[in-house]
Amino acid sequence: MIEGEWRPTEKPLFTVRVCINKRMNTDRLPSCAGRGSRGLADLLERMILEERIPASITRGPCMNNCMHGPNLKVQGADFFSLEDQITDENIARIMDSVRAEAVRRRAAAAEAATAPTAAEPAP
Ligand code: FES
Repeated sequence: MIEGEWRPTEKPLFTVRVCINKRMNTDRLPSCAGRGSRGLADLLERMILEERIPASITRGPCMNNCMHGPNLKVQGADFFSLEDQITDENIARIMDSVRAEAVRRRAAAAEAATAPTAAEPAP
């Protein structure tokens, strides 16, 4: 989790769900936490807060794709299976997806705010 006085500047519009499942029988099946997903979730959370992106990190259970983890899902957008590769390039790909989804969500929210309501028909 993030330490300090960071506060989101606006209500989160979507989540990024990161599998943080840890499995003890690693000889049978790997797990996302065993491949560093908990640290990845912390890193992404810090980057999202620093950039003031209206998204939140949800640390969740197994997504049934363990062989290809760490796995994470940007709500309404991309699913990432990092294949045990938490690299700068993959983190950049994830953040690009998060930024693009934030732009899309903000545009949709702005459009909804200016759309005529049922009580006020369009001219
Ligand atoms: S442990 Fe993450 S998908 Fe199964």
